[in-house]
Amino acid sequence: MASICFLLTLLGYLSFVAGSLVPQEGHPNITHSLNVSTCPGYTLHSLLETDTGISAWLGVAGPACNAFGRDVVNLTVEVTYEISTRLHVNIFDTANAQFTIPESVVPLESGSTAINKNNSDLQFNFEVSPFAFWITRRSAGSDNHTESQPLFDTRISSLPATPISPVIPLDNSTALDGFPLVFEDQYLQLTSALPLNANIYGLGEIIASSGFRRDVGANGGNGTIQTMWARDITDPIDQNIYGVHPVYMEHRFDEATQKSQTHGVLLFSASGSDILLLTPPSFNTSLIQYRMITGTLDLYFFSGPTPQTVIEQYGQLIGFPTWQPYFGFGFHLCRWGYSNVSETKEQVTKMREAGIPLEVMWNDIDLYHAVRDFTTDPVSFPASEMKAFIDELHANNQHYIPIVDAAVAKQINSSDIYDPYTRGVELQTFMKNPDDSEYIGQVWPGYTVFPDWFSKNAETWWTEALKNWSQSAIDFDGIWLDMNEVSSFCTGSCGTGADLSNTTIPGLFLPGTPESPVVDYPEGYDSSKWGPSGNVSINGTLTFGSDTPIPPMLLKRGLGAGKQSGISVNDPPYAIHNGNGPLSVHTLATNATHANGLIELDTHNLHGLMETKATHQALLSIHPSKRPFIISRSTTLSSGRYAGHWLGDNFNTCGFIGNTDEELCNRWMQLSAFMPFFRNHNQRGALSQEPYRWDSVAEASRKAIGVRYQLLPYWYTLFANASMMGTPPIRALFYEFPDEPELFSVDRQFLIGREILITPVLTPNVSTVNGIFPGRGTVVWRDWYTHNVVNTTNDGSTTSLPAPLGHINVHIRDGSVLLLHDKPVYTVTETRAGPFALLVCLSNDGSAFGTAYIDDGETVPPTPNTTLTFEASKGQKLELSPKGSFRISQTLETLIILGVPREPAQILLNGQRVHSNSWKYIAAQEKVVLTGMNVNLNILTRISWS
Ligand SMILES: *[C@@H]1O[C@H](CO)[C@@H](O)[C@H](O)[C@H]1NC(C)=O
Ligand SMILES: *[C@@H]1O[C@H](CO)[C@@H](O)[C@H](O)[C@H]1NC(C)=O
Ligand SMILES: *[C@@H]1O[C@H](CO)[C@@H](O)[C@H](O)[C@H]1NC(C)=O
Ligand SMILES: *[C@@H]1O[C@H](CO)[C@@H](O)[C@H](O)[C@H]1NC(C)=O
Ligand SMILES: *[C@@H]1O[C@H](CO)[C@@H](O)[C@H](O)[C@H]1NC(C)=O
Repeated sequence: MASICFLLTLLGYLSFVAGSLVPQEGHPNITHSLNVSTCPGYTLHSLLETDTGISAWLGVAGPACNAFGRDVVNLTVEVTYEISTRLHVNIFDTANAQFTIPESVVPLESGSTAINKNNSDLQFNFEVSPFAFWITRRSAGSDNHTESQPLFDTRISSLPATPISPVIPLDNSTALDGFPLVFEDQYLQLTSALPLNANIYGLGEIIASSGFRRDVGANGGNGTIQTMWARDITDPIDQNIYGVHPVYMEHRFDEATQKSQTHGVLLFSASGSDILLLTPPSFNTSLIQYRMITGTLDLYFFSGPTPQTVIEQYGQLIGFPTWQPYFGFGFHLCRWGYSNVSETKEQVTKMREAGIPLEVMWNDIDLYHAVRDFTTDPVSFPASEMKAFIDELHANNQHYIPIVDAAVAKQINSSDIYDPYTRGVELQTFMKNPDDSEYIGQVWPGYTVFPDWFSKNAETWWTEALKNWSQSAIDFDGIWLDMNEVSSFCTGSCGTGADLSNTTIPGLFLPGTPESPVVDYPEGYDSSKWGPSGNVSINGTLTFGSDTPIPPMLLKRGLGAGKQSGISVNDPPYAIHNGNGPLSVHTLATNATHANGLIELDTHNLHGLMETKATHQALLSIHPSKRPFIISRSTTLSSGRYAGHWLGDNFNTCGFIGNTDEELCNRWMQLSAFMPFFRNHNQRGALSQEPYRWDSVAEASRKAIGVRYQLLPYWYTLFANASMMGTPPIRALFYEFPDEPELFSVDRQFLIGREILITPVLTPNVSTVNGIFPGRGTVVWRDWYTHNVVNTTNDGSTTSLPAPLGHINVHIRDGSVLLLHDKPVYTVTETRAGPFALLVCLSNDGSAFGTAYIDDGETVPPTPNTTLTFEASKGQKLELSPKGSFRISQTLETLIILGVPREPAQILLNGQRVHSNSWKYIAAQEKVVLTGMNVNLNILTRISWS
């Protein structure tokens, strides 16, 4: 989804946009040519073709251009038909000197698999000189309009180098003037043609002003420069943020046949890079161009041919999302600024008093002593009190999750005992400078060191630290991984030569301190109601949060002393469009060194993933066989195997940054109840925003959480399918209705699975919302709350829906069967213990289908499980059949069947007539309701009506 856009002005934050992006001078042997068109490209010299693929050897086709590095003379191309839906094209330096993602970091279902090329959906085609390749669908005939253009086509590299000026108005380094294949030690470039104004999705992580469908620069668009460099930044628009996902999906619609096909393309790389989408004037195609500063061109193509199958095929390669515990779907509450244990406990009490379900209570860094990981503050969060508090949560079937920051405080002197640091030094688990000295940066606790996830003892040390913390004070149920891009407040190293005990350095003002009030308010904020500055006084008195000591801002000491020669580790000649400018700003120096000699320049984008993976392993060791619940801010390829993700320092208030008001929080709580991860989180010093603070928000929250908890068996099944098959739980409308072009840009509505359509309000001060009901009149959509059929249009235009404050529109698709919790109660555990209900929405032909995956909700699979299959047919019967070994102790008590046009004369349950007191018919909604059924779901059940 695009961000909720009515929230706040972002101007203040956009001023972070960096200055100089032009290539740096001073590196030997590199000409800094912007004129990439003088690069010679490559010629194919020899070729070995087998049934399963091709190995080809390329040589540089002329004098080196050394544009932003040194040309690599010899390249190898390995083409492998891996499975029928996946083709692998790997272009690498024959000498294997370039960095590639180690298999230990991202193991792929690849390499060992290969099929006969004739059985592949995809075909690799190439040209010898200049070397170029293109990918086609095997099914595509010359008369097949859908596939008249290849899926991927680098023949653009043979176009004459006529200067063109792109629409993208950035700096001179974007001045394209030709598209040769460039493969240098510090610059790689590959360009492919796309259909004009192609439908491109993906290339994260980004909050794109264009929305979910990316701007390829056609039809007046500006084009896109998507930069891949993980960055700690408060969610700016159109800039690189926390995560890096160089994968996209292209959805092609053929006007002639009115049919679509979808494919996916993954660049399997951790390289700092720019990925451009653009449509040069006078071109009849759009383009994608990869510009990388390290690594190799390792590409995977997925044949789809639907959006959903592309996502499944991608997951099959990089690994499916991890199994989530059932409690994770409950409501979570957090704030930076709960300054002590009683303030934290008070939230739990107030939530219960207000009758708003609270499943998981969180603490931010307030919890820590001296802002150090794995500690509790002895005064404000004494270990014994925290232990008692968490025990009490557990006794009430609630949970607790603390934050863990990525950097580890450096112990100041020998009387300042901090075991996680000394133990890490002993086990050599921290990053180094090129001269082997300790690499020092700065984060909240002051001077810090950084785990080196490539060091051999890192996971052992990390597990030990988490285990000690868990056993001594914080018996956590999950872990929240923050600051793992990795964030450091210096530009590069700030420790070398510094006086590490010097604290007389300029202060850093945290938000919410008197010097730094939170002054962002929602659009339409009512100052007559809430005051000109909310509850935060500009003149220095805080209503919320405490005035903790201000961490020092250390002097910038420049980059660590690089000792590499030949390549420019600290300032690669091609400057990617990192929002911070130079690569080492607000993170580690790119010459910081790992145990095995790898440098940060190559591995930067992997830090969050590797920390997440280590944490996942640690939690498995602390609570064997229980599913780890983790969210990580920085993610990349395969992070989903180990954890979930949250939006970071987002402005979706009741989310995080800025002040909220009643209306915004009301809408936010209702919308977020239909997101996979549902957490209200606030910053220090801003207005309090717990859902009980306003009556209307409390009421809206109870209502939306009620719907969410009814739907938990459905959510759980969707996530099981994601973990087993990679099927996406949340879907854009066009995933389900791929041949309806009016849906291709829709990102203000979404589907949960196949069946549930959410149409939220995203603008202030309205009481209606417009939504599209996909299916062009062929699908019956029913209102979740009333079960009334919506009067939709059949031409793909929007329908206006009532949306008063406190109401979120939820609609159910026909042909569906949903297993629900009949009567949600306060916690997920108690809700789960109660009976089930079944909601059947017959389609016009009287059929409906659904499944529900059920297990114990916490054990790591393989674990006993049962899948229930529900199938209605002919508008007169329904069968419930279980498969599996998990015993379902809860019974089915209620059955609602929608779409029964006439009142049945009788209803049979397993052949027995159901007493007329136990069912009723409501003609207005064509609805049959059975109650008090007491059906055992472990055996086959048949219901019929006539
Ligand atoms: C590259 O630079 C080094 C150091 O400046 C120099 O010794 C060498 O001759 C140069 N090589 C080329 C091919 O220009
Ligand atoms: C490139 O490959 C050719 C043929 O194998 C070889 O003779 C040459 O030395 C290689 N060049 C480099 C720079 O590796
Ligand atoms: C065109 O593509 C579709 C979808 O893959 C396929 O079913 C059809 O057979 C193709 N037509 C021809 C003539 O190859
Ligand atoms: C960009 O290119 C233009 C035209 O060649 C030139 O006048 C200008 O100085 C360049 N700007 C930078 C920052 O290099
Ligand atoms: C293109 O960029 C300009 C300047 O930033 C902006 O005003 C305009 O809205 C953008 N166009 C599109 C289609 O995003």
